[in-house]
Parts: sequence; structure tokens; C-alpha cells
Amino acid sequence: AMSLLESAKKAAAFRAVDECVKDKDVVGVGSGSTVVYAVERLAERVKTEKLQLVCIPTSFQARQLIVENNLVLGDLSLYPSLDIAIDGADEVDKDFTAIKGGGGCLTQEKIVASCAKRFVVIADYTKDSQILGEQYKKGIPIEVIPLAYVPVMNKIKALYGGNVELRMAKMKAGPVVTDNGNFILDWVFLEDKFNWESVNTQLNLIPGVVETGLFVNMAERAFFGYADGSVKEKT
Ligand code: A5P
Repeated sequence: AMSLLESAKKAAAFRAVDECVKDKDVVGVGSGSTVVYAVERLAERVKTEKLQLVCIPTSFQARQLIVENNLVLGDLSLYPSLDIAIDGADEVDKDFTAIKGGGGCLTQEKIVASCAKRFVVIADYTKDSQILGEQYKKGIPIEVIPLAYVPVMNKIKALYGGNVELRMAKMKAGPVVTDNGNFILDWVFLEDKFNWESVNTQLNLIPGVVETGLFVNMAERAFFGYADGSVKEKT
């Protein structure tokens, strides 16, 4: 049987795909464990409703999901303007500011989301918060050019305090390497009164930072699934 958390993820994903995707859409496909269910539902709808969709991946994983589910694969050079992007998140606060990049795909995710008319977040209920950092304790993921990782870590600590760690791989010795060949820093912040728009801008100005996992003013809708299969849309 499916675990309670998996049922919650699936409920959110199915609801968002049913409510937000229509025929002829160019759809950004996010990364992570919740998006797996969104792709499952996209494939079902293509089959039963004969929808014509083009899917734009946000990662190697997303590309594989699109191909394995026999969906039409596109890219941003062919489809620079998307109707919708659907993605998971590590946390979403009261202002719809999201932390993403727990799976390390934040840069491509942010690029794809930025090209979409609508960005929709799907997640289980544990990701729904008021204040950023309330639930997700691993900090803000930041993709960096490898040779710059130590100076970037020091600059983040000097600017905002907290702890910054180089994300290490689980199944090999050494750091996690992103789809783009870069490293990931996780910045664990200690205060809860940051202006996230300004923090995102300042972090992106540090030479060597590729992108941050802070998604400010991007999500238009957020669907949170519960273990009983119900879904709550954040308002
Ligand atoms: C990937 O880089 C992340 O941004 C994911 O979208 C995020 O971590 C959510 O993943 P889950 O759906 O597995 O919780």
C-alpha cells in the first residue's frame, strides 16, 4: 500500500494537473518525488482525453520521466514560452515564497518556471508553512561554480550569518554535482525576518553563484495534499 505521505503527494499532483492543464499546453515538468505523480496524470490525460501537450524538463530526472511516460519532449530553444510549469517545493510560506532545490535541480527549475505564464506548486501538507524555515530545516540551496565554493560560502556568512555547508554526495566520496556540473551550498539561516526578495537578489550578485533556491513572486498557485486524499489550495 502507498504510504500516507505518498498519497498526499499524489492527491496534490493529480488535482493540479486536472485543474490547471488544458489541450495544446506547453508544460514545464518539475523535479522530485511529487512531480512523478504529475507526470503519471499528464500521461493518463493524454491517453484518455487525447490532449496534445509538449513537456519541457527541469532536470535529467524530469526528462527521463517525460520520455518513459511517452510524453512529447521539448526544450526552451524550441518552446521559450510555456503555458504552465508544475513543480514540487521543499517549503512554501504565506507569501508563496518557496524554497526549492532539495533535489539539486533549482537552476533549471527556476529558468523553466520563469518562462511559464503560470507556475503551480504541488506538495504534501508538510511543506505548507507561514514563515520560511518553519518546516524545512536544511536551509536554502544555492548552486555555485565549483572553484568559487569557499569564497561564496564566506561571503554568504558575512552577509547574513548562519551556517553554509557544501552538499556532499551520499553514494560517492565528495560533493553533489548538479546536472550543470556545479556544486550546491545549503545556507541554514538563523533569523526569520529576512526580506527574501532582497536576499535572493544579493545572493545572485555574488560572483560564482549560479542561482538560488529561493523562488520569490513566482508561484501563482500552490496545492497541498493530505494523507486522506484531500487537497487544500493555499490562499
Ligand atoms: C528539486 O530540485 C526540488 O526543487 C524539488 O522540487 C523539491 O525538492 C521537492 O521535491 P519532492 O517533491 O521530492 O518533495
